[in-house]
Amino acid sequence: MSAFHCPLGALKYQDPQCIDCGLCYVDEQEKKWLASQKVRAQIRKLNGQNNRSEKVRKIAICGKGGVGKSTITSLLTFGLVEKGYKVVVLDADESNPGLHRKLGLEKLPASIYEDVKKSEADDTAKHWHQLEKITLRDIPANFIEQDQAISYLMIGKINDVMEGCACAMADSAREMLIRLSLKDDEILIVDQEAGVENFGRGVERGADTIINIVEPSYESIELSEKINYMAQGIGITRVKTILNKVPSRDVENIIKERLHHHGMEVLGSLYQDGGISLAAFEGRLIENTQANEAIEKMIEQLL
Ligand SMILES: Nc1ncnc2c1ncn2[C@@H]1O[C@H](COP(=O)(O)OP(=O)(O)O)[C@@H](O)[C@H]1O
Ligand SMILES: [Mg+2]
Repeated sequence: MSAFHCPLGALKYQDPQCIDCGLCYVDEQEKKWLASQKVRAQIRKLNGQNNRSEKVRKIAICGKGGVGKSTITSLLTFGLVEKGYKVVVLDADESNPGLHRKLGLEKLPASIYEDVKKSEADDTAKHWHQLEKITLRDIPANFIEQDQAISYLMIGKINDVMEGCACAMADSAREMLIRLSLKDDEILIVDQEAGVENFGRGVERGADTIINIVEPSYESIELSEKINYMAQGIGITRVKTILNKVPSRDVENIIKERLHHHGMEVLGSLYQDGGISLAAFEGRLIENTQANEAIEKMIEQLL
């Protein structure tokens, strides 16, 4: 079990969350497939019980490394604030720093994962992250970096060699995503780590919306199709794609056609833009009217 991280959150075989699907012990490909079907069915059932929101409430931003997940997380955050929402941004990328700077924040909050780890050794008290439903008001101030309508939470970053794998951080991200309870005017955006490993760990289970960021590259488009398939497997029906770093109208049309052909819905496009990369280089907010306007239209369509 040690190399396996259960997407249902069971710490070991026959824990209360375990459904004996076999995913952690079967070897043959066909048995693995059957096990994964059992897990998918269980996740869909649990999501039904969790009352997954009909409305857009919890958005997970996914895609290959470097496609623009954090950039678009920040643009969507400001766009939603403009529309009157309070936005909770959960930074679930354990490697890359800098999302807080894109949001105009100077400091990082305390790491949620470090607190989870510390509290594992202390069962004398119930900790805030163990509440079945966690509201923003339940989270101690040192775990939130706030600027007006934006609240930034961070799972944690790997800072040194030999710190171990990031699976336990993904477990914390999954639990936060499921347990965070939002008011009507609050929206959560989770900036995921790159790739599909997080899907393997069931991190997106608590999301009601997946935004799949695609850049014009073979790998990114292939991965986005996989994300679309995996999201549907856990019962998330609202999966939208944003094209980013588009160099020309021709390329945009070719990619859109391919995505439509695979049943994927494109929310909109952002063009390759020197102003966006300069802001990233300088670690500051993106002030770009064209990108902001494009994002505003995407938000209207999404909501
Ligand atoms: N539309 C765009 N035009 C130009 N550069 C972009 C655009 N979107 C993202 N970038 C740049 O691409 C790099 C990776 O973006 P980032 O948001 O950090 O990706 P991810 O979070 O997916 O790893 C950054 O340097 C960023 O400034
Ligand atoms: Mg990022």
